[in-house]
Amino acid sequence: MNNPGYPSAFLHPFSHLPTLERDGPVVVERGEGIYIFDDKGRRYLEGNSGLWNVVLGFDNPRLVEAARRAYGRMGAYHAFFGRVTEPALALSARLAALAPMEADRVFYANSGSEANDSVVKLLWILAEAEGAPHRRLLLSRRNAYHGMTVATSSLTGKDYVRSASGLPLPEVRFLSCPHHWREAAEGEDEETFSARLADELDRTIRNTGPGCIAGFFAEPVMGAGGVIVPPRGYFEAIVPVLRRHDIPLIADEVICGFGRTGSFWGSAHYGFEPDIVVASKVLTAGFFPMGALILSPRISERLERAVRKYDEVPHGFTTGAHPVGCSIAMAALDELEAGAFDNVGRVAPRFMQRLEAMADHPLVGEARGVGLMGALELVADKDSKKPFDDRVEISERVATRALRHGLVCRPLGQAVVLAPPFIISDEQVDELFEILARVLDEVYDELD
Ligand SMILES: Cc1ncc(COP(=O)(O)O)c(C=O)c1O
Repeated sequence: MNNPGYPSAFLHPFSHLPTLERDGPVVVERGEGIYIFDDKGRRYLEGNSGLWNVVLGFDNPRLVEAARRAYGRMGAYHAFFGRVTEPALALSARLAALAPMEADRVFYANSGSEANDSVVKLLWILAEAEGAPHRRLLLSRRNAYHGMTVATSSLTGKDYVRSASGLPLPEVRFLSCPHHWREAAEGEDEETFSARLADELDRTIRNTGPGCIAGFFAEPVMGAGGVIVPPRGYFEAIVPVLRRHDIPLIADEVICGFGRTGSFWGSAHYGFEPDIVVASKVLTAGFFPMGALILSPRISERLERAVRKYDEVPHGFTTGAHPVGCSIAMAALDELEAGAFDNVGRVAPRFMQRLEAMADHPLVGEARGVGLMGALELVADKDSKKPFDDRVEISERVATRALRHGLVCRPLGQAVVLAPPFIISDEQVDELFEILARVLDEVYDELD
């Protein structure tokens, strides 16, 4: 059926074309707390906080007011040529103080992709300046998601995303995905699996030749890979390998940062101190496009030395460190500190308990998560973990039906992903899972 809303002049990013062709786009008109409303007046509980980012409500008055005041003062300014705005200075000091490691410098981009891309460039600037131009290799993991620029699509461990544009860049090497349920050998416990992945990392580093690796990128919990929670002992096993070979650890905290796991940083949750933190999304609670790199003194001192011969950092973006974005980020941090972060800790046990209870459903192979992020891996056969035939489009079916029942959840491979706003209440957690349970029953009946 040709839908009147599709096609239009708008090119839809990452949208399932058959569903668009059948149902047309959902035209979103407004938001209220954790709910969004479409142009037909239908209400949806946003079980993904938009794209993991709108965690403080779609109409948060404090953020709206911060934006209004900031625009009233100065609509925009850049941060080149030694100019800087007061909100950018204030936010930088605050982020450096909040970081999960000792930190002293913050650099701004406009998105998570640009921020990760900037890390790649920074690492390569260091390599060139330190007389190690061969130190260009970048380590990532299968199923990782680090963005969609050329460099960060390359770091993203999803084959079709890369191969569609002839990527990855030749500098990228992939390690195993730390998904115990799917990847572990028969009978291998989590610690043994983690130790095996640490051995793989060590071997990979040694096989590339000494000093060829510029950095290792890792999301503390892999978000867009399907909420892959690291197995027990994973970071404890791999961080010492990186330290031994003096390889910078870049924590991509674009999803985990600012409370998603129940800890303020994913790195802190898993007990490690990165060299560089990449932040975005919750940084402005989705109200402004912004990405940030937070640097440890060791990295920033090396950078200062490296760029001395140019008399400047040869990198920057027109709207990086935008004063309105920085003001909104300050207000978002205020909101987190005023209670939104604590609310994650309060509701997360209920969220996880309801999520884990879904594991009993005949369609669910694994229910996994941490804090306020979770996934249900859907399987054709629970015992053998056999996935569905791709043509069934199982997660798309669930997500589409959930939409009809007023719930936004995200299909990801054969998993359905949930990441509700930090301000969700106990009753709303129940509402979310009641809809989802009904949807799974309906899809199960439909498949029978
Ligand atoms: C972990 C991670 N890194 C980077 C990105 C890219 O961020 P953006 O879409 O803002 O470019 C994402 C986006 O979802 C992400 O989840």
